[in-house]
Amino acid sequence: MVQEDLFKKIIAHSKEYGFIFPSSEIYDGLSAVYDYGQNGVELKNNIRRYWWEAMVKLNENIVGIDAAIFMHPRTWEASGHVAAFSDPLIDNKDSKKRYRADQLIEEHLQKIEDKIQKEVDKAAQKFGASFDEGKFKSTSPRVIENQQKYDAVHARYIRALENDDLKELYQIIIDSEIVCPVSGTRNWTDVRKFNLMFSTQLGSVSEEANTIYLRPETAQGIFVNFLNVQKTGRMKIPFGIAQTGKAFRNEIVARQFILRMREFEQMEMQFFIKPGTEMEWYAYWKEKRMKWHKSIGMGDHKYRFHDHDKLAHYANAACDIEFEFPIGFKEVEGIHSRTNFDLGNHEKYSGKKIQYFDTEANEGFTPYVIETSIGLDRMFFTVLSNAYVEEKVEWEGSAKEERVVLKIPPALAPVQLAILPLTKKDSLPEKAREIMDRMKYDFNCQYEEKDSIGKRYRRQDAIGTPFCITVDHDTLQDNTVTIRYRDTLQQERVVIDRLPEIMGDKVSLKGLLKRL
Ligand code: GAP
Repeated sequence: MVQEDLFKKIIAHSKEYGFIFPSSEIYDGLSAVYDYGQNGVELKNNIRRYWWEAMVKLNENIVGIDAAIFMHPRTWEASGHVAAFSDPLIDNKDSKKRYRADQLIEEHLQKIEDKIQKEVDKAAQKFGASFDEGKFKSTSPRVIENQQKYDAVHARYIRALENDDLKELYQIIIDSEIVCPVSGTRNWTDVRKFNLMFSTQLGSVSEEANTIYLRPETAQGIFVNFLNVQKTGRMKIPFGIAQTGKAFRNEIVARQFILRMREFEQMEMQFFIKPGTEMEWYAYWKEKRMKWHKSIGMGDHKYRFHDHDKLAHYANAACDIEFEFPIGFKEVEGIHSRTNFDLGNHEKYSGKKIQYFDTEANEGFTPYVIETSIGLDRMFFTVLSNAYVEEKVEWEGSAKEERVVLKIPPALAPVQLAILPLTKKDSLPEKAREIMDRMKYDFNCQYEEKDSIGKRYRRQDAIGTPFCITVDHDTLQDNTVTIRYRDTLQQERVVIDRLPEIMGDKVSLKGLLKRL
């Protein structure tokens, strides 16, 4: 299967089975904003819990906090985001309207795509059932010409973004003859920078309203609480502070599903260390974080490190952990040596002394920081896309059939145990509910009695439930049930009392945590 097609199929599957919905879809959605559905939220919570427990529970010297999203506006001056966290902007001199240069180019690209789609739709209507879209696209001169135009502009555009090349963005707009939608002219200014932070007003109209920002990273909530945590927790360096929470960015290229969103969630940990030890700790956290990723068991070969060529304004070393998605390797987590940039600047901007006093050396200093910063949504998509499998299987007594199954690691699965009475009569539902009432305190269970057992198995496969328990007439006699295993399709008859013991190890986070 073409990888782009697989990507689209996973997106469609995630909507059909209650993992991810476009935000406010009844109003046609909101660009690059998504909602997590009934199964998505369980998977997301499980991933977050695994990260949290690996950080906070397993490391005596790491504690967690939950800082507010709104922060004092000076925070973002100190962090450098007001000055340096930006995208390109352009004005039309005739209409005096202001645009984002990247959006003008994206809209131009969209128009070319629309032209291609129009040709395809026209031909599909003409040829009916015998229409072969792939063949048409590779032979129609008009489609080929537009595709080449698209590819050429797209390649220049991506290169310009990567190189932060504002002149080239301007040149693409000129060369592509992009006009202002209002004045219809090509009388453009140069391209300048546009800040990615969302701003809003704090305070009522009658009071003096302050412009504040929605945080573009959770890290600053940790830095401004460094002294609070260090003092109240009597923390000794080296120690870390972990936090998970929403971050907001008015992103340029936002067409990669939940990989690039305007509202997303981060799981970040700032590790405070002695200056001069940063390279040692940087190497330590690189290894530690890679081990966490690999522990999930999605295939070691799917991960790689990517060292940053261009360092962020705060870093003296940085790399990404990349995962191989259906659309190629993409960043999931960043590991950054942030020096004393943040604490030093907060000290300067707040006028408060932010230092650590080393009682053994009898000296105070501004700690250096190693940061691990992972996107929860991207992590979610590593699990979901890796789990998606289409395979031909032999159902009991029938010919081979295709099934779609999410082979999610059992400890992260949204539903761990489905409890299914074979029929709706003969007291089987009552017995199944009895089992459910016993199991629901320890496992995430789902009870289902509608439709044939085969259909129910397939629905559970599609949401990744690792174990289905079938309650049948024998259950009433001997207290045994059938466990049906999602990945092997094997069935095993066991006494009900053994269920917690059989499932326990496989679905608990403890199993994953012990691999670290
Ligand atoms: N505090 C450092 C920081 O924010 P970053 O590399 O900009 O570093 C860290 O972001 C992680 O957050 C990324 O590796 C990615 O997983 C996630 N992330 C960043 N922007 C995102 C977006 N627009 N949508 C989804 N996830 C995003």
